[in-house]
Amino acid sequence: MRFLAIPTLIAALATTAAGVTPAGADDLLRDQAKKSFEPIPKTAPAIPGDPATEDKLALGRMLFFEPRLSDNHDISCASCHNLSLGGVDSGALSGGHNAQLAGREVQTVLNAIFNKSQYWDGRTSDLKDQVVNSVMANPKAMLKTRGGPMAINPVELSATKQRAIEELKSMPAYVEAFHKAFPEDANPLNYENVGRAIALFEATLITPDAPFDRWLTGDANALSDDQRDGLKLFIDKGCASCHNGVNVGGASYAKFGVVASPPPEYLPADDLGRFAVTRNVSDKYAFKVPSLRNVELTAPYFHSGATLELSKAVSVMAETQLGVKLGEDETRKLVAFLKSLTGRQPEVTLPILPPRSH
Ligand code: HEC
Ligand code: HEC
Repeated sequence: MRFLAIPTLIAALATTAAGVTPAGADDLLRDQAKKSFEPIPKTAPAIPGDPATEDKLALGRMLFFEPRLSDNHDISCASCHNLSLGGVDSGALSGGHNAQLAGREVQTVLNAIFNKSQYWDGRTSDLKDQVVNSVMANPKAMLKTRGGPMAINPVELSATKQRAIEELKSMPAYVEAFHKAFPEDANPLNYENVGRAIALFEATLITPDAPFDRWLTGDANALSDDQRDGLKLFIDKGCASCHNGVNVGGASYAKFGVVASPPPEYLPADDLGRFAVTRNVSDKYAFKVPSLRNVELTAPYFHSGATLELSKAVSVMAETQLGVKLGEDETRKLVAFLKSLTGRQPEVTLPILPPRSH
């Protein structure tokens, strides 16, 4: 049996005396939340120096779905970043399930434009570089690059890149699409432009109007009581000290296991995370603090893909990062809050890809 502590009682009475209604409490929480979070904008953000045009976006969308960029013509960005599944692969290719293909869990492309860096170890900063320097050159090889950029074989990479460009050049519809998208370039069909077009398309893959965002911008009814309590816990317990900003994450790195080490299946010993990029001892087992936008849709969780359950991910976080053992009710409310981060999913019309010429 638990009693309200006297000071809490007095505080509660004082609040009532001061005339703070539940609506007032809502405003206070909103002011507090606005210090840590921002809503997802309603329209695609611009990429500095690379204005979006209809033609670039149409080309970017084609390339995102284009399996003939890959070595064996069998895998496109969309294979792993399925836009019908929150921009991930639902575990099909992920660390725990298919270690040969993926050393790490797939991260979503949704809202990736708002991340300060890309990948679990932050090895590239912007979306274009990510495409140009690693991914599409050989997506399967990319997945064996756990351990950082050093692990990529540069010779193999450029040979594959060149093959991808030759492949596109063999299709007249692509030659035309690149000329339309980059009219200022004499020779537009190159890898740099593949990266630019895909990055511009990715910038449209954003999820505005989540209940949390509607609440943050003034709709008091957008969150349930449990979700509001969960938000308060998220701030008060310290989750928001790492997961903050427009993406509720994506802006910093932290050791996985600040207070207590996670079990080895959550943190396999051979993936040193950010250390492989910086070689700073303090970065051992540090990973990018992931965005929690749409986290309801992006199981399994953690870079290791160690659990499919959001409630389990939440309690592991509380124990390893904050040294807190959550009560069942607290976990439930935190999960309810996290579900309020699911936004309107982008509606993407499937492109019809050009036939190969004969
Ligand atoms: C075979 C599966 C696979 C394919 C194909 C693939 N990706 Fe990924 N993608 C991943 C995995 C796994 C990660 C996380 C890897 C890591 O952090 O080391 C990732 C990470 C990313 C990220 C970083 C997201 C973040 O929050 O840091 C972006 C952006 C991305 N991929 C875009 C693309 C694009 C664009 C393509 C096509 C050109 C592509 N991916 C093809 C599996 C894939
Ligand atoms: C010290 C920084 C820090 C704090 C505090 C923190 N997290 Fe995390 N969080 C991380 C990092 C880093 C990861 C990625 C771990 C990994 O897989 O390597 C993560 C991963 C997660 C994931 C998995 C997301 C995914 O897509 O796989 C969830 C869910 C999560 N955190 C929720 C929370 C909650 C809820 C709290 C508060 C109880 C919290 N976090 C506190 C840094 C933090």
